[in-house]
Amino acid sequence: PPGPPAAPGQTSPIQANRAPTPAGAGRSADHIAQQYIVPCMKYYGICVKDDFLGPQLGGRVLEEVEALNRGGKFRGGQLVSQKSIPSGNIRGDQIAWVEGREPGCETIAALMAYIDESVMYSAANGQLGDCIINGRTKVTPETPCPSLTIIRVSLFCPGVHGVYPAMVACYPGNGAGYVRHVDNPNGDGRCITCIYYLNQDWDVKKQGGLLQIYPEGKNVVANIEPLFDRLLIFWSDRRNPHEVKPAFATRYAITVWYFDAKERAEAKEKYRLAAGQKGVQVPVSQNSRK
Ligand code: OGA
Ligand code: OGA
Ligand code: MN
Repeated sequence: PPGPPAAPGQTSPIQANRAPTPAGAGRSADHIAQQYIVPCMKYYGICVKDDFLGPQLGGRVLEEVEALNRGGKFRGGQLVSQKSIPSGNIRGDQIAWVEGREPGCETIAALMAYIDESVMYSAANGQLGDCIINGRTKVTPETPCPSLTIIRVSLFCPGVHGVYPAMVACYPGNGAGYVRHVDNPNGDGRCITCIYYLNQDWDVKKQGGLLQIYPEGKNVVANIEPLFDRLLIFWSDRRNPHEVKPAFATRYAITVWYFDAKERAEAKEKYRLAAGQKGVQVPVSQNSRK
C-alpha cells in the first residue's frame, strides 16, 4: 500500500535548494495529482489544471517573466535537431532558460518546485505506469518514482550542463506560432511536458495563440487556450503532436520536461557514442598530414 505523503512543510529531496512552494503545497500537490493528473493522463494523455498557483503567486510569476523580457533575456527559439533550418519558419517564439536560482526568479522557482511535486506525486506507486521502471527500487514518499527523474532539461539548453532549467517562451504577438510537432519524436528521454500559461484576459478569437493537440489514433483535437494560471500536462512522445496557432498579442508560457530515467540514460549513451565516433573518424592531426 502507498506510504503516507510527506507531511505539509516537510522538505522533499525535490524541493531542497528551492524557494518555498505555496502554503501547504505538499498536500495540495498530492490532491492535484490524484484528482486531476493521474486520471486524466491515464484516459486522455493530456491534463489541464486551472488556478494552479492562484492569482497572487501566478501574478508574481508573470511579473518576473515580464522583467526578464524587459531585461532582454529572451532569444530566438532554437531547434535542437535541425540547426541548419532557420528556426523562425518553424517556431516563432523567443525563449529564456531559467534554472530558478537567478535573482528575480524566486516565484518561477516556486512554480517549478510545485510542478515537480505534482508530477512526482502523480508518478508515485506506478500510477503513470509507462514512466516507471518496475521492481527496481522500493517506492517510498522520499523516492516516489524511481524512474522519472527530476529533470527538466538540458541537452536542449546550450551551454548549460547538469543544470535543470525551465524554458520560458514568449510569442511576441507578430503572428508567429509553432508548427505541428512532437516534443520527443525519437526517444531523447523526455516523458512528460508541463506548460504553465501566464496570459490574463486572453481571447483566442482576437489574439489567437491556441494550442491544438492531435492525440495519436483518436479522431479528436484538444483545443487548449493559453490562459493565466493554467497548467497543461501531456505525454511528450508521438502520442501528442501539437501546434501553436499564430499569436497576435504577447503570449507567455513556462515549460518543464520530465525524463524517463531509462530512456534518458539510453539517449545519453547514444549521443555519447555518436560524439565519440565523430572524433575517431576525423582526427584533426591525421587530416592535416595527408
Ligand atoms: C545533462 C544532464 C541529467 C539527466 O544532460 O546535462 O545532466 O538525468 N542530465 O538526464
Ligand atoms: C513547445 C510548445 C506549446 C505552447 O514549446 O514545444 O509546443 O502552448 N509550446 O506554448
Ligand atoms: Mn511542443
